[in-house]
Amino acid sequence: MLPSLFFSDQPEKTYAARLPWSQRKRLGQVFTPYEIAKFMAQWVTDRQFPAAVLDPALGLGIFLRALLEGNPDEIPSLVGYEIDEQTIETARELFTNNGYAQIELRQANFLSEPWQEQFDGILCNPPYRKFRGLPDKDSLVAAVKQHTGIALSRAANLYIFFLIKAIWQLAPGGRAAFILPYEFLNADYGTPIKQMMLDQGILRKVILLGDGFQPFEDGITTSCILCLERTPVPCPPEWIRVSALEELAVLATGFPVNERSPRPISATTLPLPSANTKWHVTSMPHTPDHLDELVPLSTFGRVMRGIATGDNRFFLLTEAERRQYGLDLDCVLPCLQKSNYAPGHMFTSSHFEELRQSNRPVWLLNACGNENHPGVRTYLNWGVAGGSDRRYLTRNRSPWYALEARPPAPLLVTTFSRAGVRWVRNEAAVSNLTAFHGFYPHPGVDLELLCAYLVTPLAQRILAQNRREYGNGLHKFEPNDLNHALVMDITRAPEAIRNQGLDLYSSFVRASQDENNSSNLIKQLNELFSHFLESSFEDNKAGHSRMGVDQYGDASSGQRSP
Ligand SMILES: C[S@@+](CC[C@H](N)C(=O)[O-])C[C@H]1O[C@@H](n2cnc3c(N)ncnc32)[C@H](O)[C@@H]1O
Repeated sequence: MLPSLFFSDQPEKTYAARLPWSQRKRLGQVFTPYEIAKFMAQWVTDRQFPAAVLDPALGLGIFLRALLEGNPDEIPSLVGYEIDEQTIETARELFTNNGYAQIELRQANFLSEPWQEQFDGILCNPPYRKFRGLPDKDSLVAAVKQHTGIALSRAANLYIFFLIKAIWQLAPGGRAAFILPYEFLNADYGTPIKQMMLDQGILRKVILLGDGFQPFEDGITTSCILCLERTPVPCPPEWIRVSALEELAVLATGFPVNERSPRPISATTLPLPSANTKWHVTSMPHTPDHLDELVPLSTFGRVMRGIATGDNRFFLLTEAERRQYGLDLDCVLPCLQKSNYAPGHMFTSSHFEELRQSNRPVWLLNACGNENHPGVRTYLNWGVAGGSDRRYLTRNRSPWYALEARPPAPLLVTTFSRAGVRWVRNEAAVSNLTAFHGFYPHPGVDLELLCAYLVTPLAQRILAQNRREYGNGLHKFEPNDLNHALVMDITRAPEAIRNQGLDLYSSFVRASQDENNSSNLIKQLNELFSHFLESSFEDNKAGHSRMGVDQYGDASSGQRSP
C-alpha cells in the first residue's frame, strides 16, 4: 500500500465496504475520519512526545497511523487493543506491510486487561454499545468499583467503561484525547465520570462537533472530543464548538504556542462546572450570577411523563373505530398523541373536535372498570388475539390493559424539540401520551403568570441548560430535567410587573388562538421579565455588598462566588 493510503482512512473505507454493517455494529465499530485522528494525535504529542501510547479500541489503528505520520522519526512504544480477530489481523497486516511490525497489537478485551500499566499518550474512539445487552456486565461494574470506587449505573454505555479505565491508565504528565457521543455530558450516568475528571483536574478541552457536523457514518449521535492532561496545574477547561473539519485544523495550530486557537472558534474558559449539572457547550457561558434569582420549576408544580400505553395501535382509536367497535364514550378518554396535533400554545375543545372529525386517533381505551361493557369485552378479546397483552409494558401490568392513572394536566410541554420546548395550555383537558409531559401546578400557583414567563426566549435559554442533546439538533427533557430546571421566581414579581405580564400574556393567548402574529407580544414579555430579573439581581447584589461592608468592614466580602 502506498504511504499516502496508509496515512489516510482508505484502509477503513475498504474494510467497511467488505463487511455488513450489522457485524460492525455488534462490535461498535465506527471508524474515525483521518483528519480527526490527526487532530487528536496532535493534542497528545504536541507538548512532548509520549514514550508509551495506547489505543484501547484499535480498529485498524487510525490513531497510531496519524501519530506516526506526524512523527516519522519517533517510534515510541505503541500499544493497541482489539477484541475482534478479523479486525486485528487486518491491522497487523497493514502495519507490517508499511514497515511498522514492531507495534504491539494485542488481541484482547481491553476492559478485562490489568489496570496497572500506564501510558503517557492515549487516543481512543471507544465502541458505542448499549451496556444492558452485554454478558459480562457484572464483572465490568465490579472492576470499575474496585479500582475507582465509582458505582456505575447499568444504564451506562460501554464507552463509559473504556473512558474510565483508560483515564485510570494515564500516567502523570500524560495527555489523552477521546472522541465520544456528546450525550454522556448531560445524561445522569455521565455524572460520576465527569466528577472523576473534575476531581483529577485533567479536563483541558471539551470540543463539541456541533451544528450538524457529523463525522461518523452512522450519523446519529452528536460527538465531542475530550482533551485531557494529567498535570498538577489546575486550570479550568476550555469549551469549544466547531462545525467543520477545517476548524479543528485551525484549533490544532494553537496547541504548541498557548494551547489556544489563533482564531477564536467559539471558545470560552469558565469556572469549573459541577458534575451534577448538564454540560452544554452551546449554552455556556451561562449566567451563574443570576442563579440566586431563579428557583427549580418544581417549586411551582410537578412535571410527569405522559401515558405510555405499551401498544398505541391497540389502545388508540379514531372516531370511526370507536363506533365500529361499539365503544361508548365513557369507555374511552380523549387524548393527545402527537406533538404536531397541538401545534400552538393553546389546545382547546375545538382543536380536539377538528382532530376527531379528521379521524385522528383521539380516543384512549379506558377498559378498567368497564370490562362488562360488551364493546369493551369484545375489543379486549380482539387485543389478546392480536398479542397486545404480551407486549413489554402490557405483560408487566395487572390487568394488562390498565392505564396509568394520570388526570389531564392543565399545562403540557413537548418531550422532544429542536428550537426550544413548547408549552401548551390543555384547555380541552385531554390525557397526554408520551410526546408531551404534563405539568401539574401546586395549589395556589399563578399558572397564568408562570405561563407568561415560560413562553419567553429568556425562559427557554435558562431551561436549555438542563436539556439532553441528541443528534441532528434534537433535544429532549426527561420530566426530572424539567423539575430541576431553573425558572424565574414569579412570586417575587412586583404587582406592576405581574399585571403587565398578565395583560401581555392574555393578548398573546388571543393572538395565538386567532393565529395572528404574536412575536411582538413575546418580545415585550421577554423584555419585561429580563428587566425584572436584571433589576432583582442588581438589588440583591447591592444588598450583599452593603451587608459585606456593614458586617465585616470589607466590601469585597459582598462579592458573589461564581
Ligand atoms: C469505534 S471503533 C474505533 C476503531 C478505531 N480506533 C477508529 O477510531 O477508527 C471501536 C473498536 O473497538 C473494538 N472493540 C470493541 N470492544 C472491544 C473491547 N472490549 N476491547 C478491545 N476492543 C474492542 C471494535 O471491534 C472496534 O474495532
